[in-house]
Amino acid sequence: MDDELPSVAGALIRNPVPGDHPRVLAAMDRWWAGSGGKERALVLPRFYFQHFTGGSELVEHDGTVIAFLIGFLSQSRPGESYVHFSGVSPDYRGRGIAQHLYTRFFAYSVRNGRSVVRAVTPAGNAGSYAFHTGIGFVAEPGPAELDGRPYQPDYDGPGFDRVTFLRRLDDLTA
Ligand SMILES: CC(C)(COP(=O)(O)OP(=O)(O)OC[C@H]1O[C@@H](n2cnc3c(N)ncnc32)[C@H](O)[C@@H]1OP(=O)(O)O)[C@@H](O)C(=O)NCCC(=O)NCCS
Repeated sequence: MDDELPSVAGALIRNPVPGDHPRVLAAMDRWWAGSGGKERALVLPRFYFQHFTGGSELVEHDGTVIAFLIGFLSQSRPGESYVHFSGVSPDYRGRGIAQHLYTRFFAYSVRNGRSVVRAVTPAGNAGSYAFHTGIGFVAEPGPAELDGRPYQPDYDGPGFDRVTFLRRLDDLTA
């Protein structure tokens, strides 16, 4: 059954299904119109909505997607899970929605025996950096720094510099 999102009356949280893929891409196009919506959509191929749905969630309000988190349990590292991408509609930011989705993903990770959550973000994304560190992620030390944010040059390929984060879940397992 869908869960309610506490901060927005009538908004419901559920795992995504393949039919949500075009709706999420369309939402991203709207949210980031003129500032890379199409490019960001490339990070979300349909397979995430087919094969990575157990830990991923989206939020709908009045029939519209307003937020999502795509994450999964690592296949290769039995103690870890990974958040691939998350987004909140600009109209709904600052209400703790992303924090709520991450908190649910942390709980899902703990239930499945994970003790660390990992995530990465572009080195230039100061807002994402503030968000991640604000909810308990730590940036791993890097050989380079931008405005005080350590990052790994060329982490995702030439020119794709990334901050690599980890969030230990000890506070949730104790
Ligand atoms: C980053 C993002 C997901 C945050 O969503 P949100 O629902 O507005 O975040 P929340 O309201 O849950 O914020 C949680 C905390 O992070 C802080 N925070 C969130 N966005 C922030 C920003 N841009 N700058 C500074 N702090 C920020 C909030 O102030 C809050 O801290 P508080 O509890 O001390 O008040 C949203 O801004 C977004 O979709 N950005 C574009 C996509 C992106 O960068 N995704 C993340 C990487 S995949």
